[in-house]
Amino acid sequence: MRRELERLFDLSGKVAVITGGAGLLGIKHAEALMEAGAYCVLADINGEMARTAAAKLIAEKSSRAIGVQTDITNSESVAGLLNQTLQEFGRVDILINNAANNPHYAKLADGLESRRFESFPLGIWNQDIAVGLTGSFLCSQIIGSYLAQQGQGVILNIASDLALIAPDQRIYKEEETPPELQPTKPITYSVVKSGIIGLTRYLATYWADKGVRSNALVPGGVYANQDEKFVIKLTNLIPFQRMAKPDEYKAAVVFLCSEASSYMTGASLVIDGGRTCW
Ligand SMILES: NC(=O)c1ccc[n+]([C@@H]2O[C@H](COP(=O)([O-])OP(=O)(O)OC[C@H]3O[C@@H](n4cnc5c(N)ncnc54)[C@H](O)[C@@H]3O)[C@@H](O)[C@H]2O)c1
Repeated sequence: MRRELERLFDLSGKVAVITGGAGLLGIKHAEALMEAGAYCVLADINGEMARTAAAKLIAEKSSRAIGVQTDITNSESVAGLLNQTLQEFGRVDILINNAANNPHYAKLADGLESRRFESFPLGIWNQDIAVGLTGSFLCSQIIGSYLAQQGQGVILNIASDLALIAPDQRIYKEEETPPELQPTKPITYSVVKSGIIGLTRYLATYWADKGVRSNALVPGGVYANQDEKFVIKLTNLIPFQRMAKPDEYKAAVVFLCSEASSYMTGASLVIDGGRTCW
C-alpha cells in the first residue's frame, strides 16, 4: 500500500518547466518537484536569479535543474525555452504557469502613479495582462501543444484566492491618506487570476483526449515580512488567523503534477486557510 502511494507521487525522471521560477513560490514549486524526483527548468525574465536559484537547488537536492532567461510575453522566447529544455533533458512533462506581476498594493507614497480603478493606467493594465494571461497562454500554446503531441503531460496554473473573491480593499486602507489616494489591490490582479481559472478549464476539455491534464492551484497569501498592520487586517479575514508559510503548497504541487491526481482535470484546488469559505 505504502509502495503504491509512493509510486503515485513519484516524479522520477520527469521534467518540469516553471515560469517565474526565480520568484518566492517558483523556487518552492521546484523544490517540491525535485524532492519527488523531477528535473526542473526555472524560466524567469531575470536570468541571473534563475541560474542562481537552479545552482542552489542542484546543491541542496543533488538533482538536476537549469535556469533559463525567458520573457513569457514573447513567443520566440518561449519557443527558445522549449528548445533549451529539450536540448538539456530530452523531454518535458510538466508546465507550471506561475509567473505573474504580483503588486502587493499600489502605494502613492512609494512614488507610484495612482492605481485606483478610476485612473488605472492603461500601460500597467497591458503589462499585467501580458505577463499573467498572455504569458500563460503562450506557454500553454507552445509547451502545452508539445505535451499534447506526445500524448501525456500536466499543466498546473497558479491562481490566487483573489480568483474566487474580490479583494477586500479595506485591508489596504491607510488612515492618514485621503480617499482618492487610498492604495488598492489593482484590478488587473483579479482579472488575471480569474482568467487563469478560465484557461485551466479550457485546456482541460480541449486536451482531455490527448492525455494532458490542466488544473489550478488557488493559494492564499504567503507571509513574507509584510507590514504588521496589514497582516493583522488580512489574517482577521482568514479562519486560521494566519497567512500561509511558503512551504505549505509544496505537497499540493506534487499531488497536482503526479499520477496521484490522475482523475483530476479542470479543477481548482483551494488552499487558503479557509479565507474563501468564510
Ligand atoms: N506570494 C503570494 O502570497 C501569492 C498568493 C497567491 C498567489 N500567488 C501567485 O503565485 C505566483 C508566484 O508568486 P510569487 O509570490 O512567487 O511572485 P514573485 O514576484 O516572487 O515571482 C514572480 C516571478 O515572475 C517573474 N516574471 C515576471 N515577469 C516575467 C516574464 N515576462 N517572463 C518570465 N518571468 C517573469 C519575476 O521575475 C519573478 O521572479 C503568482 O502567479 C502569484 O500571483 C502568490
